[in-house]
Amino acid sequence: MTGKMARLLLVLLLVALGAPVYYIFFKSPPPLPDIDLNEWWGPEQMKTKHDTSLKPFKVKFDALMIKDLKDRLKAHRPFVPALEGIAFEYGFNSKQMNSWIKYWSEEYPFSEREKVFNQYPQFKTNIQGLDIHFIRYKPQVPANVEIVPLMLLHGWPGSVREFDAAIPLLTAVSKERNFALEVIIPSLPGYGFSDAAVRPGLGADKVAVVLRNLMNRLGFKKYYIQGGDWGAIIASNMATMFPQEVLGYHTNMAFSMSSRTTLIQTFGAIYPPSVVRSDLVDRMYPMSKIFGTLLEELGYMHIQATKPDTVGVALSDSPSGLLAYILEKFSTWTKPQYKLKADGGLTSSYTREQLIDNLMMYWATNSITTSMRLYSETFNKRYASLGLDEIPTPVPTWILQAKNELAYLPPWILKFKYKNLINETVLDDGGHFIAMEMPKVFSEDVLSAVAAFRNWHKDRNVKTEL
Ligand SMILES: *[C@@H]1O[C@H](CO)[C@@H](O)[C@H](O)[C@H]1NC(C)=O
Repeated sequence: MTGKMARLLLVLLLVALGAPVYYIFFKSPPPLPDIDLNEWWGPEQMKTKHDTSLKPFKVKFDALMIKDLKDRLKAHRPFVPALEGIAFEYGFNSKQMNSWIKYWSEEYPFSEREKVFNQYPQFKTNIQGLDIHFIRYKPQVPANVEIVPLMLLHGWPGSVREFDAAIPLLTAVSKERNFALEVIIPSLPGYGFSDAAVRPGLGADKVAVVLRNLMNRLGFKKYYIQGGDWGAIIASNMATMFPQEVLGYHTNMAFSMSSRTTLIQTFGAIYPPSVVRSDLVDRMYPMSKIFGTLLEELGYMHIQATKPDTVGVALSDSPSGLLAYILEKFSTWTKPQYKLKADGGLTSSYTREQLIDNLMMYWATNSITTSMRLYSETFNKRYASLGLDEIPTPVPTWILQAKNELAYLPPWILKFKYKNLINETVLDDGGHFIAMEMPKVFSEDVLSAVAAFRNWHKDRNVKTEL
């Protein structure tokens, strides 16, 4: 090959490699999707008599439901023995089932827990055809303390119960703050006591609209939001679609799946310290290890994103099946090493009561199938084509990065999406259900974030009064 040809080839190669990189980095983000604020998700015939009132709501575990649940728990067939020497590597270990079944059917104090479920005021109101259930708690404050609204969003397989221990900490009045939080904690549509859509299409972008409408229904034109898991994705969409309303976004699962992010992650594999702080390299690399973990752990996601109704038949019929399916996630997502513990480490991080409280949100309402459909409605072409992760948001953002969260991205990469990412808290501990596992750490971080958001707005002279 002549020198000239070699040079030509080199130029061609650079163009071939450079063009997509250039394209990914400099193409302008897609426009915001058209937002239909009134899209109807309930039965068509309800449209003409739309009731927009707020109705007080209390959880009631009725005797028939409890009896049926206990009968089903006791009537299970013998469990297939786990393999020799195996803990939770193949999934929930069946040797653990009997003690959980005994606890749920004989020891779980239903009526006492019902009172705990009702310790904070709850309501339902109909948004776009769906009755949305939410906790709303406003603390009593002295005259010089400003009340600030914060919506907290759970994910799958969690529920509003994840915030039980955090609520009193979040809403506490302190001499160190000139504000106190009023918390609004909805059950996502199709989860717990909130209605599910009756027709396809209620993906994470449309749920963002429903929850924005909920805040407006309650009279909040401007508010703060917090989310983990699906709650993080939905809250991120709210920050992207309603930046003039959302005053700040706090998340314990900061993630962004834009093509730029993926490209940087991939190139970063050549020399990880070029992408991520050296003490956090193992949260992102080696990619083979991260992908290996994803392959091992995300089977449920593929099922729920494609055939939620099939597995839903099994899980809504069998409380022991539901228990194994959900508690396996509370084990592995809290600490991956829990897979190697005979009992899945479950009671090292939570009480049995807490875990069954969360299961009751799914069992008592028969909502496991509709909860899983959120995956199908979001992991699809329609949602991907919106490119929401490519659209930057100016909403001030604060991220809390627990040690065992399912994914990690450094702040400089997240800044492509969250232009005003103002702080990052990195924990050496904690997992995916951080509000439930470490309520004090979680609440303090959220309060610091809201204080920082308020200063951020003050520095910019933005009116934050409601
Ligand atoms: C960011 O967080 C750190 C540690 O929590 C804190 O010391 C610092 O003041 C925070 N920065 C802002 C802008 O709030």
